[in-house]
Amino acid sequence: MLKQLHTKHQPVGQFEDTRFEKIHNVTYKSSLEASNFVALEIADLIKEKQRQNKNCVLGLATGSSPIKVYEELVRMHKEEGLCFENVITFNLDEYLPMDKSNIQSYFYFMHEHLFNHVNILPENINIPDGTISKEDIYQYCIDYEMKIKSVGGLDFQLLGIGRTGHIGFNEPGSHLNSGTRVITLNHITRIDAAPSFLGIENVPKKAITMGINTVKEAKRIVLLAWGENKKKIIKETIEGEISADVPATYLQEHTNTTFVMDEGASSELTRVKTPWLVKPCVWNDDLKLKAVTWLSKLLNKPILKLTDKEYNNNGMSELLTEEGTAYDLNIKMFNRIQNTITGWPGGKPFSDDSKRPERANPSKKRVIIFSPHPDDDVISMGGTFDRLIQQGHEVHVAYQTSGNIAVSDEEALKFAEISKIFNPESTKVNDIIEFIKNKHANDIIDSLDVRKLKGDIRKSESLGATRYLDLPDENVHFLNLPFYETGTIKKGGLTKDDITVMKSIIDKVQPHQIYAAGDLADPHGTHKVCLDALFAALEEMKNEKEYMKDCWVWLYRGAWHEWDSHEIEMAVPMSPDQVLRKRHAIFFHQSQKDGVMFQGDDSREFWVRAEDRNRLTAKKYNDLGLTDYAAIEAFKRYHF
Ligand code: F6R
Repeated sequence: MLKQLHTKHQPVGQFEDTRFEKIHNVTYKSSLEASNFVALEIADLIKEKQRQNKNCVLGLATGSSPIKVYEELVRMHKEEGLCFENVITFNLDEYLPMDKSNIQSYFYFMHEHLFNHVNILPENINIPDGTISKEDIYQYCIDYEMKIKSVGGLDFQLLGIGRTGHIGFNEPGSHLNSGTRVITLNHITRIDAAPSFLGIENVPKKAITMGINTVKEAKRIVLLAWGENKKKIIKETIEGEISADVPATYLQEHTNTTFVMDEGASSELTRVKTPWLVKPCVWNDDLKLKAVTWLSKLLNKPILKLTDKEYNNNGMSELLTEEGTAYDLNIKMFNRIQNTITGWPGGKPFSDDSKRPERANPSKKRVIIFSPHPDDDVISMGGTFDRLIQQGHEVHVAYQTSGNIAVSDEEALKFAEISKIFNPESTKVNDIIEFIKNKHANDIIDSLDVRKLKGDIRKSESLGATRYLDLPDENVHFLNLPFYETGTIKKGGLTKDDITVMKSIIDKVQPHQIYAAGDLADPHGTHKVCLDALFAALEEMKNEKEYMKDCWVWLYRGAWHEWDSHEIEMAVPMSPDQVLRKRHAIFFHQSQKDGVMFQGDDSREFWVRAEDRNRLTAKKYNDLGLTDYAAIEAFKRYHF
């Protein structure tokens, strides 16, 4: 409850005008801070119930959202003696059919993340049973409902939210009064689950889920949402009308619900995205640019044609008072965007750089391009990469992970069989072929040799692309960050070892420029961890190493989305020929062509998506009234 807000974890924008919002919500700077706040609320509830000599009945969720909450609860148990003996849990859902021993099961998930590490009594754990037979399932669901009632109902329900707006697995169309039952999973939900099942064909089509009514009867509900992947559904849920199309909107009628979010998830809320429509603003230059580009897009007019009347009609009269007239404001913002455009991403030598995104000096820079997977470099900034080399900078590319998980068995088999032609007696090669041929869809962990082969395939594809761009092989670095090498989609957490690897390559190159994927919407999180590894390294090095004072960091975005126009601080245009060169560089990543394993819900190949996105960025600039380029790659500076 809000009164339980702990001063240790203060949300951002706590007392803002929430006039468009129909659900109480708080936003934290990071999902870690937010999770700690939620864990604290749960711990307080458990302790309060202990004082009253009562059980504490928790409804629990799985998925990526609650992981850090569980981690913090485990920590509190281990370090602060938080006792779980009075806790009874009911999980929201389970795939159907699903064996308890399957590492994709929610049974496995809950034990791995929480139950195995706290002193909860096994008989107090309730998770829908994914092995129940068709004949028994109806009664089983009724019994599950009754059991929740028999212990006094849920005191607290933890929820995540799916991109379909599902809570539990109550997919669009679910009824307000629904109880625990079998449900058919929505296609988007199955796409989102596909990475952990290594392909959508392995994702179960059905699940058992608590109903909307089961959830709504909880005395307290907290829904967690992290990252930009959730921002659209969060806006629809908090600001939209109640509708079965977005089942989470039913929570608008629950009187004790809080949505706890990070800044990515809340970024589409009207209050955050267009604050001038809601409240008086402190107008700094960034906010002015955001507002002006927003208005230009809304009215479908170039910036230089926006009028005083249009500003006044769209919540920006106060801005005009500050700026004088639309004419002055328009020119100022137009110039600001104009100055982001450069064909010299490493800085234009021997020229006035006061209005350019990069410094002129030194004229030859040392550059590291960090690429989370062995293809993000060319997909996201292939044109800029090419220019940096051609303009004579000392460019290095560092592939942060091996990307081995994303190579299909068929692709690996192809290479193993070719290798066998030259080494017919090699036990290693024969073992690899044998392993792949006998691999069952559910045996998702490859042998070490298969993983190595898959990683090596990606390595030689990367070298194909970097050689095509004329980069010497000695400037290509494969970091194989340890967090990634689990053999499964679920990655380990970031450790000191990862940061040490990052620091050592930075120290070796002593770069003037670093490029990195500032992509927080990567469906399976690798980009985010890679970015965290860089940020942690920069933080440690900034005071240790003199050369870091002269190092600028530019963030590009991966295949999933682009910076908004107002966020772009360097825009590198590409000619049609450069677009073709970039396309060719991407083509070297053959294992990622034709039905990539982790495509998300966009089935186009990466080169098509990349071209489309670069064309779109150019169009956005053109719509704002700037020159009409064929394509643009976009970057935002990160200050550390
Ligand atoms: C899980 C569940 C689902 C998830 C939702 C979000 O028990 O019921 O509703 O909470 O799909 O999943 P993540 O957190 O992985 O984004």
